[in-house]
Amino acid sequence: MSDHSAGKTWSRSRRLDPADFIKTNMRLAPVPSVPEVQLYQAHPGSGLRRLLEPDDDSDGIEAEPQPPYWAYAWAGGAVLARYILDRPSIVAGKRVLDLGAGSGLVGIAAAKAGARMVISAEIDRNGVVALRLNAEANGVAIQIREEDVTAGPPPAADLVLAGDVFYAQDVGQRMAPFLDRCLAAGIDVLVGDPGRAWLPRSRLCLLGEYHVPDVGGNGGSEPRPSAVFAFVPIKGG
Ligand SMILES: C[S@@+](CC[C@H](N)C(=O)[O-])C[C@H]1O[C@@H](n2cnc3c(N)ncnc32)[C@H](O)[C@@H]1O
Repeated sequence: MSDHSAGKTWSRSRRLDPADFIKTNMRLAPVPSVPEVQLYQAHPGSGLRRLLEPDDDSDGIEAEPQPPYWAYAWAGGAVLARYILDRPSIVAGKRVLDLGAGSGLVGIAAAKAGARMVISAEIDRNGVVALRLNAEANGVAIQIREEDVTAGPPPAADLVLAGDVFYAQDVGQRMAPFLDRCLAAGIDVLVGDPGRAWLPRSRLCLLGEYHVPDVGGNGGSEPRPSAVFAFVPIKGG
């Protein structure tokens, strides 16, 4: 069946194996500003749309699929990865959750910096395949949770790393209460972000700043300021 006879260009994706697709159509290369980590990254010829699957909404109607966030290193993840690799004692010997892992960049950096255990949580099934391939390519072991962990209890972790998870209002509204529950459970939380619209600024304490390219945010290859923050309890709360 051709793309056109299927009616929608992305219907063909049901026959594609995501691991084969990623290895064939994406480029394994060091991340700009985090060259210690290699990722399968999209390029203009990747044709990623072929891999995307429609989501079924609550009425069973096919909706446009989620963009392939996992195919890029986002500025929030890049700044967090850079920060950790420059200060490995932050993660060394700890159990770390990489929340909204995408490509796996932050969790891979944590593993390289000496984390005892890394759990990467990602809801996109192609993203899960990509982060597994990326972990293998970097020679690190990562546990993957393919689910919305924000709906559940705090993880069995010492530290949560949240790279670029405030890019949309609905996502941010799920993340902040979950991060609050993590704090209440005694888990430290670090956020990496280039200043997205839904960043909960009043809850953040600046720890460091770097200039990194914002490839995922369509900011191009030009480095721009991005920051690492501690997520802190509500004042007086
Ligand atoms: C902007 S991308 C950032 C990816 C990566 N951290 C980085 O900085 O390159 C955000 C990712 O969070 C994932 N995500 C969104 N909501 C999530 C949830 N509730 N649980 C796990 N992952 C989620 C998305 O699928 C997406 O891959």
